[in-house]
Amino acid sequence: MRRSLGRQVTEISSAASPSRATKILLVEDSLANRDMLTRRLERRGFAVCSAADGPTGVAMSVAEAPDVILMDVALGAMDGWEATRLIKADPRTADIPVIALTAHALATDRDKSVEVGCSDFDTKPVDLTRLLGKISACVAKNLGAREPLLSETETATPKNPSPLEAPAAAPPKLAASAGREFDPPDALAGSMRDFRELEGKDLIGRVGGFYEWQNLRRSRGLWPYSKSTEQAPLAFCAARDDTGLRFSGLNFATQDYLGLSSDPEIKEVAKAVVDEYGVHSAGSSALAGNTKYSLRLERTISDFLDLEHAVLYPTGWAAGYGVIKGLVRPSDHVVMDGLSHACLQEGAYSATANVHLHGHLNLDSVRRHLKRIRSKDTENGVLLVTESLFSMDSDSPDLRALQELAREYEATLLVDVAHDLGAMGQSGRGFIGMQGMTGEIDIVMGSFSKTFASNGGFVACNSPAVKQYLKFYGCSATFSNALSPVQAATVAKAFEIVQSRKGQELRTRLLKRVVQMRDALAAARLDVIGAPSAIVPVLVGDEALARMVSRRLPELEVIANLVEYPAVAKGNARFRLQMMPTHSAEDVAELAARLRVAVDQAQGEFQRYRAGSGDEREQVKAVA
Ligand SMILES: Cc1ncc(COP(=O)(O)O)c(C=O)c1O
Repeated sequence: MRRSLGRQVTEISSAASPSRATKILLVEDSLANRDMLTRRLERRGFAVCSAADGPTGVAMSVAEAPDVILMDVALGAMDGWEATRLIKADPRTADIPVIALTAHALATDRDKSVEVGCSDFDTKPVDLTRLLGKISACVAKNLGAREPLLSETETATPKNPSPLEAPAAAPPKLAASAGREFDPPDALAGSMRDFRELEGKDLIGRVGGFYEWQNLRRSRGLWPYSKSTEQAPLAFCAARDDTGLRFSGLNFATQDYLGLSSDPEIKEVAKAVVDEYGVHSAGSSALAGNTKYSLRLERTISDFLDLEHAVLYPTGWAAGYGVIKGLVRPSDHVVMDGLSHACLQEGAYSATANVHLHGHLNLDSVRRHLKRIRSKDTENGVLLVTESLFSMDSDSPDLRALQELAREYEATLLVDVAHDLGAMGQSGRGFIGMQGMTGEIDIVMGSFSKTFASNGGFVACNSPAVKQYLKFYGCSATFSNALSPVQAATVAKAFEIVQSRKGQELRTRLLKRVVQMRDALAAARLDVIGAPSAIVPVLVGDEALARMVSRRLPELEVIANLVEYPAVAKGNARFRLQMMPTHSAEDVAELAARLRVAVDQAQGEFQRYRAGSGDEREQVKAVA
């Protein structure tokens, strides 16, 4: 049963200031053990911080003031007993109970643990239920049982929960919302770009830095990526984060722009084709991987776009990469919008060193690049690349002007229509149709993974020679398995719906919700950017603040994607809300209210963090 949404925000906002969660300092030198135990304890509602060696453990016992310390005794340079001795000798930490973790249940280990002042000891690998009992006993004794510890039964997920009826993970007890004062700067700063350049001969070992950073963020509830859904990605959905923690909520993180992924007609077609064909095309389209459904889909796409030919690819990414790599040679040039999708950029940089990024949507910048290139090089090809709807900013270029510039400078225009084809415009032809450019663009490329309910991509143009050339020289189609018959038939059915009255109604409803959402966000004093489309970007700005906001979302029962550098510019972190016609007006109002709550809650933490780090910036602009 979907929860009653009306009362939710106020209930949650008060609940989201938990009295406290029991804080554990785990001193353990094995990364695998540390990681595993941290996650298991956090899942049970403890706030966990960890140290990899004795000296750090001693320092953190002062800095973090934990309720209990779990101390591995075999720590190398300074063993856990020595570290415990130091902790017990310091009046600031003497009262913190320490549970020794030993590899063997030897009487001598027990004696030694007692001798240095440990309250208890346990063996590794730990029996979690037993360890929880020991933690509980230690802390209750130490704190005079002021606040009962969370027990496994309080927080455990039911064995076979019905996804919609199961309660959300107990929010106030999550480590994600606890221990916030102590988020280390490394978890709030840095980006994935920091780990792109790798040095050293150990190809496997040298990626460990990223894993450590990711785990640090994960341990603080600051790693919102790699979520999985537990059911079809509907407007309200059950999901898990990448530690396995289950939550459910309003889903604004799914790129199913017309909601066709669960459409009954589409499901019927898919089932029938599975019965007819099996599930696999079992070959590249260059060999025998075509099916009657993929051939039909090629015709459907070219008819829809009023272009004569279409080539299919296993994914949209493969289409973007493959069309550029297939057509561009090292002496050619690519002029592309600086915010173009990774598949286009990767394709360009792998095809030629002559890649010129122009200012986002800036026609003057495009002209300057083309002019400069043609003043020096009249011999080689120039591919001008853009998107009809940029997915991080929800904005669009003037396609007619770009096509005219391409003609003027003997360049070829390629437009990626991944995010608007099918979902936008009266006829569903996206911004190409809305700008009166159907059939006029040199090359159109797109993805099925947004509106067309499947994996896959395409390239369409008017030249049969280009179609054949890409089939055999566009590596990501030639040397990759073709779409399965069920994928091709699903997408063809989606195109049929897109062109039907039902498709029009879905687009009308989608746009209505989009406008409602943009209005509701603006009314909640959130900074919504771009123009109306199925993507509604909400700018937050500072990455640390955005991560803190994101951490709040599961407990507010919201599923929304955080986008940060390098996917967007530094200091421009945002939430990319993705809308579907299945969202109700109530969902929209709730989302805006809950996002506001999350921002308000995070703002306090953020200011303390900034003050603590000596960086007393003004409030970030998005959260006035
Ligand atoms: C603009 C753009 N082009 C291409 C792709 C790749 O599409 P697919 O998910 O089908 O690989 C995406 C998806 O993220 C996209 O946003």
